[in-house]
Amino acid sequence: MKFTNEELKQKIIELKEKLSVTLVAHYYQRDEVFEMADITGDSLELAIRTRDDDAEYVVFSGVGFMGQSVKVLSPHKRVVMPKAACCAMARMIDSMYYDESVKFLEDNGISKENILPITYINSNADVKAKVGEMGGMVCTSSNAKKIITTALAEGKKILFVPDRCLGQNIANQMGLNSCVIGDGKDPNEADIICYNGFCSVHQLFTVEDITFYRKKYPGILIAVHPECDPAICDAADFVGSTSQLIKYITELPQDQKVAVGTEFNMVNRLRKKNTYVLSSTKPECPTMNETTLEDVYLTLKSIDDGEPLNEILVDEKTQKWAKIALERMLAL
Ligand code: 13P
Ligand code: SF4
Repeated sequence: MKFTNEELKQKIIELKEKLSVTLVAHYYQRDEVFEMADITGDSLELAIRTRDDDAEYVVFSGVGFMGQSVKVLSPHKRVVMPKAACCAMARMIDSMYYDESVKFLEDNGISKENILPITYINSNADVKAKVGEMGGMVCTSSNAKKIITTALAEGKKILFVPDRCLGQNIANQMGLNSCVIGDGKDPNEADIICYNGFCSVHQLFTVEDITFYRKKYPGILIAVHPECDPAICDAADFVGSTSQLIKYITELPQDQKVAVGTEFNMVNRLRKKNTYVLSSTKPECPTMNETTLEDVYLTLKSIDDGEPLNEILVDEKTQKWAKIALERMLAL
């Protein structure tokens, strides 16, 4: 039997009252899923706030690496995901590709001892564990600059995975040299060597989109996420993580026009007037959009029935080293 959204919302509320659960949703989730959550935020906020929450179950609406981060930081919690959705960028690297990247540096005369790996939080637990084991840490788009500044103090080469754009953008902001594995540049001349991963959603924004909006609305501001290509970030007025973008845009005067280069659901929810999506193609994250209200209801029902769906499990060794990589970030 198919339920309406209103019926599903009522059923979710009833099950929430009965069970020891916290509903968590990332900003990119569909509105109706986002509205039902007890905790909302960007990936960093969600990792921190769920750690401090004491319900037995975390029902996480987001993508796999986010649910895994909660499990890794709080192994005693039961983490379930209404949809086992996987971030396309996180899927671009696994532990084998990670090892190949380290080997590429070694083949270019950079020894393992001289490499400090940093992984963007958008990576699966096996990659975080590899990074942790090599003395490295995790970063998010909110704290990447701080993490890289700390890492550079060790005087080593930084191997940045998996997002080449975030790595290059931070390097540009800090006046550092960067290269991307496979671009033919000598890694010895770079401070930050980036893996060649990217977010297909943030690749949708182009310099032509910026030119179009500036011509159409003189005085418009352009605000983008650092997963956009460096050419876009260079041309923008503001570059920031999800929470930094929210703060920047909501604090603008109401009559200030702004075109935003990030995920559609979040932009659409922000500020109805004078806010534009910086693309002619709707920049929806397909995997973030997979989770529906019905999935949330069915997940709660599965907990109530004693057979939780899509529970996140991480093996002991991966959990240990991924936790170390995440905690090195949180300590900063
Ligand atoms: P935040 O770290 O800003 O939440 O971003 C996660 C993400 O997937 C951006 O595309
Ligand atoms: Fe991954 Fe991009 Fe979706 Fe973010 S927007 S979850 S980086 S695919």
